[in-house]
Amino acid sequence: MRKKPMRIALLGLGTVGFGVYEFVQARKDMELACALSLVVPEGVTCPIAKNLDEILRDETIDTVVEVIGGLHPAYEFVSSALKAGKNVVTANKLLIAAHYRELVTLAKENGVALRCTAAAGGGIPWLTSLERTAAQEPILRVSGIMNGTTNFILDTMHRSGGSFTDALQEAQRLGYAERDPADDLNGADIRRKLVISSNIAYGCVIDEGEVATEGIEHITGADIAAFKRMNRVCKLIAASRKLENGVAAYIEPALMPPSMPESAIPQNYNLISLTGEHIGKQSFYGQGAGRYPTAYNVLQDCVDIANGVRGFYTDRLEEAHVDNSSVQRQYYVRTNGMDKWLQSHVDKILDCGIITDKVSVTELHNWAKHRRETDPGCFFASLR
Ligand code: HSE
Repeated sequence: MRKKPMRIALLGLGTVGFGVYEFVQARKDMELACALSLVVPEGVTCPIAKNLDEILRDETIDTVVEVIGGLHPAYEFVSSALKAGKNVVTANKLLIAAHYRELVTLAKENGVALRCTAAAGGGIPWLTSLERTAAQEPILRVSGIMNGTTNFILDTMHRSGGSFTDALQEAQRLGYAERDPADDLNGADIRRKLVISSNIAYGCVIDEGEVATEGIEHITGADIAAFKRMNRVCKLIAASRKLENGVAAYIEPALMPPSMPESAIPQNYNLISLTGEHIGKQSFYGQGAGRYPTAYNVLQDCVDIANGVRGFYTDRLEEAHVDNSSVQRQYYVRTNGMDKWLQSHVDKILDCGIITDKVSVTELHNWAKHRRETDPGCFFASLR
């Protein structure tokens, strides 16, 4: 017997939403029952819902796709849809990272699917690979490049010496950046992806606010020139590892030797790796941002649900605290003077910065937070 087509309500018709719209309209096994959006782009022919209640009351709609982004009203919409017994597919990392335990539990209680593969890694089947691996194998680490916008900016600055602002504008034009690009630049976006990935990998729930986070908003052309002289490539890296008690998790610019695979990642691409106890390191590469890659993963989640997938990627929700004191690295630091702490950790003085001796992630991030009170433009990056 032929399966009934999946009936979808699409919340949001922005960059990703319109991509999902196009994909679904081209399929025979899915129907777009309606869309709900403040702005309806030209060419959209499906019915437009007046409000969410209309969607929740429609028993023929089995799946709600949320691509509005932001916390509100996405949170209210997604939780109401789960409570109403609808499957939910979302690309919203802000929402999932902030309400992880609650939404995963709601999906389980209501016997529906909650999927968010596009929320981390754009078009890469990263979360589904994590899910499959974590079900069989202890995962020890997660790390990599998980933000397309910042990779695009750093890659452009390294290759062409272009300015930070021009590269950011181009990333925005190409639809890579968040609604508020500050979230890309200050590391908030990549932090959310690390939180979701780590939670699934280790079966835990970590608090976003505990993840030490440094973005690339303070990097300058002079820093990039110094890295070239050092024969290093700067990348924004997310990393976590399972500890006996808790998790180490942090975001920071990192200076990679050209031989490391991360150094070669161009444009909006991501490279994300997991390390399993028996399988070792596995890496996943692809476009981490943009309309069609992201919409593709949203669509793939819908296909998985149509094929019977339910719940979330894991239902293990152990509380875990973040502790970065055991992770030690050397750092490049550029600031407008010396202080006592820095003086006691100098390994090498360069033209425009210093290299520290090995210090913990906790210590360095705390020092930089304090240092910014007198030098707001201070920048640092770890040496790999
Ligand atoms: N702003 C995000 C990025 C979009 O640049 O990676 C994809 O999550």
